[in-house]
Amino acid sequence: MNKIDTLIEQMTLEEKAALCIGASAWTTVEVERLGIPSIWVSDGPHGLRKVENETDITQKSMPATCFPTASCQASTWNTALITKMGDALAEEAHALNVDVVLGPGANIKRTPLCGRNFEYYSEDPVLSGEMAASLIEGLQGKGVGASLKHFVANNQEYQRFSISAEVDERTLREIYLRSFEIAVKKAKPWTVMCAYNKLNGDYCSEHHELLVEILKEEWGFEGFVVSDWGAVHDRVKALKGGVDLEMPGPQPLRLKALIQAVETGECDVKVLDETVRRLLKIIFKSQEVSGNETFDPDVHHKLAREIAREGIVLLKNDGLLPLNDQKRIAVIGHSAKVPYYQGGGSSHINPIKLDNPLDELQKLVGGAELAFAQGYTDQDMLNQGLIDEAVKVAEDAEVALLFIALPSSKESEGYDRPDLDLTQQQINLIQEVAKVQAKTVVILNSGSAITMQPWLDKVSAVMQAWMMGQAGAGAIADVLLGRVNPSGKLAESFPLALEDTPAHINYPGEAGKVRYGEGLFVGYRYYESKNMPVQFPFGYGLSYTNFEYSNPEVAEKFDDIDGLAVSVDVTNTGKVAGKEIVQVYVHDHQATLTRPHKELKGFAKVDLAPGETKTVTIPLGFRAFAFFHPEHHTWITEDGDFDILIGASSQDIRHVLTTTMTSTLRLPSLLDRESTIKEWLLDPRGAAVITPLFDQIQAQFAETMGGGEEGIGLDVLVMIGDMPLASVMMWNQSAFPKPVDQIVDEMLQLVHKQG
Ligand code: BGC
Repeated sequence: MNKIDTLIEQMTLEEKAALCIGASAWTTVEVERLGIPSIWVSDGPHGLRKVENETDITQKSMPATCFPTASCQASTWNTALITKMGDALAEEAHALNVDVVLGPGANIKRTPLCGRNFEYYSEDPVLSGEMAASLIEGLQGKGVGASLKHFVANNQEYQRFSISAEVDERTLREIYLRSFEIAVKKAKPWTVMCAYNKLNGDYCSEHHELLVEILKEEWGFEGFVVSDWGAVHDRVKALKGGVDLEMPGPQPLRLKALIQAVETGECDVKVLDETVRRLLKIIFKSQEVSGNETFDPDVHHKLAREIAREGIVLLKNDGLLPLNDQKRIAVIGHSAKVPYYQGGGSSHINPIKLDNPLDELQKLVGGAELAFAQGYTDQDMLNQGLIDEAVKVAEDAEVALLFIALPSSKESEGYDRPDLDLTQQQINLIQEVAKVQAKTVVILNSGSAITMQPWLDKVSAVMQAWMMGQAGAGAIADVLLGRVNPSGKLAESFPLALEDTPAHINYPGEAGKVRYGEGLFVGYRYYESKNMPVQFPFGYGLSYTNFEYSNPEVAEKFDDIDGLAVSVDVTNTGKVAGKEIVQVYVHDHQATLTRPHKELKGFAKVDLAPGETKTVTIPLGFRAFAFFHPEHHTWITEDGDFDILIGASSQDIRHVLTTTMTSTLRLPSLLDRESTIKEWLLDPRGAAVITPLFDQIQAQFAETMGGGEEGIGLDVLVMIGDMPLASVMMWNQSAFPKPVDQIVDEMLQLVHKQG
């Protein structure tokens, strides 16, 4: 018998139940007599928020490196770099005695309004899943657990504790579960955190299908499920539903209820044992590796700067950037001095050190003179005096750098943004500065998309710098001055207006429910399928150099299980070194169900010296071509042609190659009494059975409707094609020897007998 089984045998019911509820806000229960240690979990996800006192939720945390938040990380599209960040987080966790970091967040950015978007990666499940997996691999590779959160459909902060996300099965599978599925299967997180909200009527913390059937059984997740803090409403229901650890603890009444439920047989002890087994496995795993007790904060600061550099997205540049030896530079904006580098809520880090853009610029501009004006405050208030001062400073300079950050009260865990705009003061400031200074650069800090309509065409350059962590200020200076060539690309679409966003008419929901009415059409899947313009598309970002794509290659034919390798040569045709993010989208020519016009299925980031060419190969597996069929309840493929779109963004597609896939699946026929004639004919097994009868039906129609020898008219053919078989036969019941329902049932039996 292994160690864990032996321990389970030795534990009393009370000890087992106690293990399933935290000992404090951040720790699990220790069972001293059996040598079961307590473990410590801490937020997450872009740095450690470890408090000294485990019973305190609100206390200021110990200093730790504040890395760029997820929106910035995702814009790097650099999985190796994010793994490096995971390594660094693990080192800090070892130093602070943290066993599990509460992150990353793999929720999809359904609407740019979500107050917590800065903690999430992308509107696309492949990019989100790959990023989350990379961070987990880094952390866990060094013996520190991750807690992948918030499972699932926690895509808004409005009523997050209670709202029911109403999501159809296919959308759930292809979009909202998919990012988690990729991360769970690839990186095997030690823990998964269930969300506060309900999913289709049931709390995620009590959702057996979600936590047990899908996560644990289907995906093979072997770690434990922890509740989000306070997400459990009934410990017994949550245990049966799949929550292994309730946090925070202690919860004496719930502990009592759990013990009683096992004693009375309301809850099978096997369920409790299975939970204890999962918990013990991770508890002991966390003791296997003891890392160093120290780390080098300067090395981590540098890494934070490197990530921020790669995550910054250059959105517009009329040639002004990189700056070129200007001697008088106006630096305008509150966030130039008080950096906006992280969001509010449970992810708030107490940074070891904090750079600000003004000082970092000063370090890099040599003898140039920087003149500062505040421009606006951290409040959403109009103040013409501040604008007038800024205009004066801008007028006297050769270039104006406008640092614009949303007020910190606008973006946080716990509530959503009211709109996608900057404040009126900021909009006025940009417009008035741009009037007097033709060379104006706007540097934006926000965790998600913002709209730029009134001012975008009035400025020379725009840079999206996200919430860029404690060292982000230096990264901005590096990019402005050309020390670094920008290489970030958007992990979310920037729409022209809030009203354009796919979730708009279904957000934030009412009467306790939010209907995901846009279905699969989230982010670019919506804009592309509707052929709608956006401000900046998914996958977009400028560089100081240019990249050419040539020699694209894919096989002409392939089988779904073998997948397909896509390759293309990328050349840096400019004068400076740079990195390019190559994206591969897939377009299905024809499918039995509606599919988004194009979907990202693979990507790679390459580093190229001037003039250099590299061949990039991106593998596409079964899932790149499959879709989730709600009637088959599984992922299916269908024979047919696919376009492989190789691009520099979702809209900048450089090559389109067509290839033919053969499905190796033999799916059961879906024909039933309601199936139309067209459906019968499209199903190969159905067609074989129905063809003689269909000939007879056509002849009957031709006769009764007067088509005579010319046969049945096309209009009639189309009309009956869309009718259920029995309904068509019913029109002429007397022509058949048996009741038509019986004939159809017999034919269905023949079809289904073939499997
Ligand atoms: C948040 C989680 C966080 C937890 C612990 C919750 O309110 O939703 O993301 O990990 O608190 O601080």
